[in-house]
Amino acid sequence: MADTKVYRASTTAPVNIAVVKYWGKRDAKLNLPTNSSLSVTLSQADLRTLTTASCSAAFQDDVLLLNGEPSDLTGARTQACLRELRTRRAALESKDASLPKLSAMRLLLVSENNFPTAAGLASSAAGFAALVRAIADLYELPSSPTELSLIARQGSGSACRSLFGGYVAWQMGSQADGLDSQAVEVAPAAHWPEMRALILVASAAKKGVSSTSGMQQTVATSGLFQQRITDVVPANMKRMEDAVAARDFAAFAEVTMRDSNSFHATCADTYPPIFYMNDVSRAAVRAVEVINAAAGKTVAAYTFDAGPNAVVYYLEENKDLVLGAFYPLLEKLDGWKDGAKGLKSSVQFDETVASTITSGVSRVIMTGVGEGPQKTDVYLVSENGKPVSTSA
Ligand code: ADP
Ligand code: DP6
Repeated sequence: MADTKVYRASTTAPVNIAVVKYWGKRDAKLNLPTNSSLSVTLSQADLRTLTTASCSAAFQDDVLLLNGEPSDLTGARTQACLRELRTRRAALESKDASLPKLSAMRLLLVSENNFPTAAGLASSAAGFAALVRAIADLYELPSSPTELSLIARQGSGSACRSLFGGYVAWQMGSQADGLDSQAVEVAPAAHWPEMRALILVASAAKKGVSSTSGMQQTVATSGLFQQRITDVVPANMKRMEDAVAARDFAAFAEVTMRDSNSFHATCADTYPPIFYMNDVSRAAVRAVEVINAAAGKTVAAYTFDAGPNAVVYYLEENKDLVLGAFYPLLEKLDGWKDGAKGLKSSVQFDETVASTITSGVSRVIMTGVGEGPQKTDVYLVSENGKPVSTSA
């Protein structure tokens, strides 16, 4: 009788938000960047992807179900990830004939994001990290997170950083084959566990210009971009690594804000220009400046990805100053946790900043630095190979 056993592995994976941004590819096929980048992995208690990878000789096709809907697996980037993982599994099978031939079976991948997909909340990073980690676990590959980061990078660049928790660098590498373009841990979450992030969701709608196409336009047309990759980012990487090592929030914050500003300046210098930040984003920048001025020291740092949402980093010890400034403006929204409710600082925003934030932010997410992917025995595929949902 044919083997119809269903093999399964499940993992969760986190979102990461860069404090030195990846923007630009030197090789679009291998997804090799023009600069190194550094991010903070965010807690999976708040934002996470859960993915089950399964395979069986009874499956007919490779299938991905994302949030309950069939999702395209035929894209070159996803195919590159599947090919790399199958090749590694096939190598194990060729060395040990007793291993089941999983590399020849079709895959059923079922994934759920517990936050909006494609809304500038780094779903692709968590999504590809979870996909790669779950299949690697299914195939029992002996690969380290750094080795897996080489594969996840080919799915989505920023995904390579979501293979680790804490503070993570993606080293751009210099080889043409990309084998040195990988993620490494700069420091674990436990090194600086007090780091928090308040996300002001300015728009949960799909974004206008995708990161992939936006960065290609910037590389092709921006003069400012050249200076960013040769001077600005190398200096920012060094300063940021030092700031994390020393747990120096003021230095961390200055690099974070300057690097976000530099990235968005290259977007504005793209021809035609690309604008990811909007009036709400700019009001959040002003609010952070007012909070820091009132505190007499740097207690908050803003950063923006390829969309208008603000991510505000701060330390737990300063939550009264930071959350207490935003809470009174946004108290009606979902997402506040108990520690924030009722907080009110003495910070006074001007009327335009206050009203722009109140009317333009649709949701808040309170989170902080967290761990890397975690194996779980919560499965989105049943023992007999059928998709199941946890959200029902
Ligand atoms: P975001 O800003 O959320 O990263 P992108 O448009 O860059 O948005 O990426 C969204 C894409 O990432 C989705 O269309 C899908 O292809 C992929 N993606 C998101 N979540 C997952 C997931 N859980 N598993 C696999 N792929 C995912
Ligand atoms: C602004 O990783 O989404 O968030 O490699 O084309 O999938 P692709 O791009 P992606 O770009 C992320 C850009 C960014 C900065 C960052 O995360 O470093």
